[in-house]
Amino acid sequence: MSEPVRFSCEDGVALITIDNPPLNVTSHAVRAGLMAALDQAEGCGAHRVVLTGAGRCFVAGADAREFDAPPRAPHLPDIVNRIELCALPVIAAINGAALGGGVELALACAARVAAPSASLGLPVVTLGVVPGAGGTQRLPRLIGLPAALDLIAQGRVIKAQEAQALGLIDALEEDPLGTARKMALPARPATGAMPAPAPDDEALAAARRGAEKRMAGQDAPFRAIALIEAATQLPLSAGLARERETFLALRGSDQAAALRHVFFAERRAMAQGRASSEGGGADAVEISSAVVVGGGTMGTAIAYALARIGVAVALVEADPQGAERARGAINRLYEEAVTRGKLSREAAQSHQQTLHSYHVGYGALPPAHLAIEAVFEDLRVKRGVFAALEAALPPEAVLASNTSYLDVNRIAEGLRHPERFIGLHFFSPAHVMKLLEVIKGEHTSAQTAQTALRLAARLGKIPVLAGVCDGFIGNRILTRYRQTCDIMLIEGALPSQVDAAMRGFGMAMGPYEVQDLSGLDIAYANRRRLGWRTLESNRYIPIADRIVEETGRLGRKSAAGWYDYEAGKARPSALIEQIIREESQRAGITRRAFSDAQIVAQATAAMVEEGCRILQEGIAERAADIDLVMVHGYGFPRWRGGPMHWAERAGLAQILRQIAGYSALDPKSWGVPSLLTRAVASGKSFEQL
Ligand code: NAI
Repeated sequence: MSEPVRFSCEDGVALITIDNPPLNVTSHAVRAGLMAALDQAEGCGAHRVVLTGAGRCFVAGADAREFDAPPRAPHLPDIVNRIELCALPVIAAINGAALGGGVELALACAARVAAPSASLGLPVVTLGVVPGAGGTQRLPRLIGLPAALDLIAQGRVIKAQEAQALGLIDALEEDPLGTARKMALPARPATGAMPAPAPDDEALAAARRGAEKRMAGQDAPFRAIALIEAATQLPLSAGLARERETFLALRGSDQAAALRHVFFAERRAMAQGRASSEGGGADAVEISSAVVVGGGTMGTAIAYALARIGVAVALVEADPQGAERARGAINRLYEEAVTRGKLSREAAQSHQQTLHSYHVGYGALPPAHLAIEAVFEDLRVKRGVFAALEAALPPEAVLASNTSYLDVNRIAEGLRHPERFIGLHFFSPAHVMKLLEVIKGEHTSAQTAQTALRLAARLGKIPVLAGVCDGFIGNRILTRYRQTCDIMLIEGALPSQVDAAMRGFGMAMGPYEVQDLSGLDIAYANRRRLGWRTLESNRYIPIADRIVEETGRLGRKSAAGWYDYEAGKARPSALIEQIIREESQRAGITRRAFSDAQIVAQATAAMVEEGCRILQEGIAERAADIDLVMVHGYGFPRWRGGPMHWAERAGLAQILRQIAGYSALDPKSWGVPSLLTRAVASGKSFEQL
C-alpha cells in the first residue's frame, strides 16, 4: 500500500500530497502523515510548503467510520494549528473537492488557490456534527458572518468561483499546484490571527429561521450557529475550545449516529448500481431507448427523467387525447426546468424534439431495451399491456412495472420470458424522488436485475432491492402505519392530533395530511382489493371507507378529506369527528385520551413490527434498506435514522415489551415478530442476525 501522505522537496518548495483514495479523507494515518511531513518540510531547506491532494479530491472530509471509536491523536485541530504556526508559509493547492476538514486545513494555510472545477464546503451538519477543527471560528474571520453562516449552518457546498467571490480562496487557476509553487503571498495575518468578525444579529436570526424551516428537530445546525456567534465574542483559543467540546459531544449523539447510518446506507445502495456500471454486473444492458406505457402522473415524470439522461423515450397512451395530455405534462416539466435554470431553453427544445415520441398502440414502437408500465393499478389492464409489449419489443428487452402494490409474479404470468420482468417502483414526483424499489419476481434473472440497478445509477437514484409481497417494503409499512393510526382514531384520538404528534416526532407530514394530499381513493381501492371489510384476520376500522363512500371527500383534490379546506388551508372537520365518534360508539369503545408520546410510540412500533416481518420474510435484504425506504419515500426523519435504526438505538428489548403489551390488548392487530424475539434473546443487531 502506498503512503497516504507523500512528501518531496524540490526547488525550495516542500510538496505535501494527501493520497488516500478515493476521497483523501483525513483518517488517522493521514493525520499522522501530515504531522510528519510538516516536520520534514521545516527541515528540508524549503522556503514554502504546498499542500495538495492526489486524484480528484483535495480532502473530502473526515473518515466518518472513525466516528464510532474514541478519537485518536494527532487530531485534526492539531494539524490545523501546526500548519498555522509552521515556520514556513503553507499554501493550499485545492485540486478538487475540499469538504469539512478539507476546508479547515485550507483555512489554516497562508493562501489558497483552487482549480475552477473544485468545490468547497463544510456540510458536516448533515452528519449531525459541527466543524471540529476551527471552521466555525476561522471561516467567519475570513469571509464574515453571513457567508460563514450560509456555508456552515446550511451545509451548502459551493463552486470555486463563488468561493473566490467570497474571499475564501485567493486565486482560481487551471493549474493550482503550479501557481501555489510561485504565487505571491497575500499581505494579511494568518486566518486565526485576524480580528473577530463583526456581530450581525440579523444574519444570525435569519440563519436560525432557516435552520428551523429546513432542519427542524436537529441539534447540529443550531449549535453551529451558536459557535459562529461565539466567534464574534471570544478570543480564538476560547472559541476553538468551545467548538471542539461541541464537536465531541455531538459526535456520539443519537442524531449524528442516525445521520451517519443513513449516509452509509445510501452509499451502499448507490454502489450496487455503480458496481454494475463499472463491470460488476458484466451482463447489464446499457439502456439507450425505452418505452413508457401510461402517460399519467408517474409515466410522464419517468419519461422525462429517462430523457434527461439521454434515453430516447416512446410514450404509449390509450388514446390520442391521452397522448396529447402526456405531451403537455412533459412539456411542462421541461418548462419548469428552464425556469429554474436547470436546463437551457435550447437544450430543452432539442430534448423534446429528439428524445420524445408519443404513440397510441404498439405498432410503431422502436426496438427499445426497456419498457416501463405506469397504467392504472389494475392487474388485468397491466397484464394486457405486457402481452402487447412482449409482442412488440425484441425478446431481450427488460419489461418493468411501476405497480405500487400488486404481485409482480402475477403480473408476469403468461409472459413467454418472465426472466426479463421486474418491478421498478418509482416515487412521486418520479423525476425528483431518489428512491427506487427494485422488485425481483420469482423468475427475474440476474441480468435483468443488474440492468435495472445500472439504470438506477445513471438516473442518480437510490435503489433498494425488495421481494414480492403486497406493497413491497414501503407501501406495506405505510399500510400498517395508517391502519394503526386509524385504530387510535377509533379508540380516542383525532386526525389533527395524530398528525401533529407525528410531525412533532419529525415526520415530514402527518398520515392524514398525506392522505388528503395523495387522495383517499387510492387507499380505498386498495382496501377493497384486499377485502379488508370481511377479512377475518384484520381488525376492520370503517372510518376511512365511510368517508369515501358516504361523503365523497377524497382529499385536497375535492377540497375536503380528513380535513376541511378553506382557501387551501386545512381545518379539522366536524363531520369527520362525528363519523369517528359514531364508529367508536358502534364498536362499543369508550374513547380515551392519547398523549402525543403514546401516539408516536404506537405508530412507530407498528412500523418496526412490520419492518421486522419484512426482514424475517426476506422481502428486504437488510434493516438499513428499510430505513432508506422510509426516509426517502415516506418522510421519516433522516436524523432518527429510519424506523429500524431508531428501534435499535431506543433498545430492542423495550420495543419488544411495547409490542407485547399492545398485542395483549389487541391480538388481532399486533404480534411479536420472531426476528425481534431472536434479536433481543441473542443481544444481536438486525445487521448481525
Ligand atoms: P394516472 O391515473 O395518473 O395515469 C395512468 C395513465 O395510464 C393514464 O394517463 C391513462 O390514460 C393511462 N392508461 C391506462 N390504461 C392504459 C393502457 N392500456 N395503455 C396505455 N395507457 C393507459 O396514474 P399514476 O398515478 O401515474 O399511476 C400509474 C401506476 O403507477 C399505478 O400502477 C400506480 O399504482 C403506480 N404508482 C403511482 C404512484 C403515485 O404516487 N401516483 C407512485 C408509485 C407508483
